[in-house]
Amino acid sequence: MKNLVSIADCSKQQLLEILSLAAKFEENPNQKILDGKIVATLFFEPSTRTRLSFETAVNRLGGRVIGFSDAATSSSSKGETLHDTIQIVNNYADVIVMRHHLDGAARYASEVSRVPIVNAGDGSNQHPSQTLLDLYSIQKTQGTLENLHICLVGDLKYGRTVHSLIMAMVHFNPTFHFISPNELQMPEEYKIFCRKNNIKFTESTELDGNFNNADILYMTRVQRERFQDPMEYEKVKNVYTLKKSMLEDSKPNLRILHPLPRVGEIDVDVDSSEKAYYFQQAQNGLYIRQAILCMVLGIDGLVED
Ligand code: CP
Repeated sequence: MKNLVSIADCSKQQLLEILSLAAKFEENPNQKILDGKIVATLFFEPSTRTRLSFETAVNRLGGRVIGFSDAATSSSSKGETLHDTIQIVNNYADVIVMRHHLDGAARYASEVSRVPIVNAGDGSNQHPSQTLLDLYSIQKTQGTLENLHICLVGDLKYGRTVHSLIMAMVHFNPTFHFISPNELQMPEEYKIFCRKNNIKFTESTELDGNFNNADILYMTRVQRERFQDPMEYEKVKNVYTLKKSMLEDSKPNLRILHPLPRVGEIDVDVDSSEKAYYFQQAQNGLYIRQAILCMVLGIDGLVED
C-alpha cells in the first residue's frame, strides 16, 4: 500500500497486519528503522494528537520531520494551490502526512504526489489513522473485533472518525447504535453503506440508558468548525454529557472511547472509571502511526524483540 487515504482502501488482511505491527511497536517503540527518511507533516487544520503522535513516531524510529502546524505560516496563505504545495514538498520529503479542511483533499494529493500521502483527516470525510488506532483500542480492550455492539454518540453528521470507523468495521460483523440529535444524524450515505453490507444499526436521540448492551461507547465532539451558522452550533453543542453515574448498568467489558479533544461531552468524573479508555486510546495512536509509516514506506519485517 503506497498511500493511506481512505480506510475503505484497506483490506481486512491489511487492517489486521497494521494492528499486528503496532503491537510489536508497543513492545519496543524505539527502533532506528527510519534513519535517513524525512516525513513532512502538513497540517492545514489544527491538531494536537495526530500531528504530535506522527512526529513522535518518526522521532522514535530515527527519522526526521519537516512541516507546518498552521497553514497561515505556509505559502498557502499567499494563494499557493494544494497541487503546487505537494509538488514542492515532494522535492524534500519521503512521505507526506496531511490534514486539510476539504473533503477529498488527501485523495487529490495522492493523485499528484510522487511520495506516499497519509491522510490525517480531510474535512468531514475520513480519518483513517484514527480509525486504525480505534480498531487497535477495541481489539485490545475486547480481545476481538468481531460481533461487537458499538454506540456512536454525538456529531455523526460531521464527525469523520465515525464515518471511517463504520467503513472499517464492515469486516467484523458489528451492530451499531447511532445516538445523535436530529440535526446531526448519521448521513444517509453511511446508512446506505450499512444496509448494502448487512451491518445492523439502530438510531436514537437519547443517550442515558441506551448503551447498556454496548461493548464500546464511542463519544464524539460536536464539530463547531464545520457549521455554516454559529446559531445552529449553539443549539446542539451541549446535547450530551456522559457522567459516571450513567455507567451503573453498563456491561463490565464496556470501554469508553473518544477521538478527543473533548469539550464537555464526557464529564471529568468519568476519567476515574475503569471503563474510561480515551487517554490510553490516544497513546495507542503512537504505535499505530509507527506501523502506518512503515507500511507506506515499504519498511517490512524490521521489528525484532
Ligand atoms: N483525534 C484527533 O484527530 O485529535 P487532534 O485533532 O488533536 O489531532
